[in-house]
Amino acid sequence: MTAKKERIDKVISSQGLISRSEVKALIKKGEVTLNGEVVTDSAVKVTYSDDIFVNGEKLFQTEHVYIMLNKPHGVVSASNDKNDKTVVDILPDELKRKNLFPAGRLDKDTTGFCLVTDDGDFAHNILSPSRHVTKTYIAKISNPIDYEKAKKGFSEGVVLADGTVLLSAVLSLIEDSDNPVFKVIIKEGKYHQIKRMFASFGATVTELKRIAIGGLPLDDSLPVGSARLLTGEELKFIVENDEKF
Ligand code: URA
Repeated sequence: MTAKKERIDKVISSQGLISRSEVKALIKKGEVTLNGEVVTDSAVKVTYSDDIFVNGEKLFQTEHVYIMLNKPHGVVSASNDKNDKTVVDILPDELKRKNLFPAGRLDKDTTGFCLVTDDGDFAHNILSPSRHVTKTYIAKISNPIDYEKAKKGFSEGVVLADGTVLLSAVLSLIEDSDNPVFKVIIKEGKYHQIKRMFASFGATVTELKRIAIGGLPLDDSLPVGSARLLTGEELKFIVENDEKF
């Protein structure tokens, strides 16, 4: 909990259930109370520990948020950027709050599951190299490769062009064609890791999408560019349902 003061409309909408304009409309109708008093001013300042009721229901404020974003192509995994739109810029207003950042980086041209949060400890836990939380990707590549050789190589630990030795990864063929499609599961997050892994087998990654973080898959009903809050249950799946290999 923080004792920081924020506008009541912002605090309510930051919990992700109703938009700022809906909150303002509810305040006008006298449907919001603060510590037992009806609120008349949307700009009144509150803390995250004040007692707020919306439409007769207690607002259970959370200190942190965990957001699943289906990241589009062309957006950078950062909180702010001089040139490009970031994963935080494209969140809907009702999910925006201070100190949001992506837990783990996806390249600008990578799509799929990006977890955005304001919880540094949580991010550290799932990203820490010693935790080996898996990340699952679908990769389309420029040309066929020797699948059995690559599968064995990924499993034994690819040695990148610069000599970096990677941890074991799982490669499975999804679609066999001139531009084959693979599923890849890795348990670390080195710079351009999947692209460099395929490069060491003579192929360029032409499309890359992250489809799961640990045991939590990307919600495939979430349109590209859309975001929603994760439930507490889903958050637990990341580590608890993660299949170790
Ligand atoms: N590996 C890559 O090469 N790029 C990503 O965005 C993620 C993993």
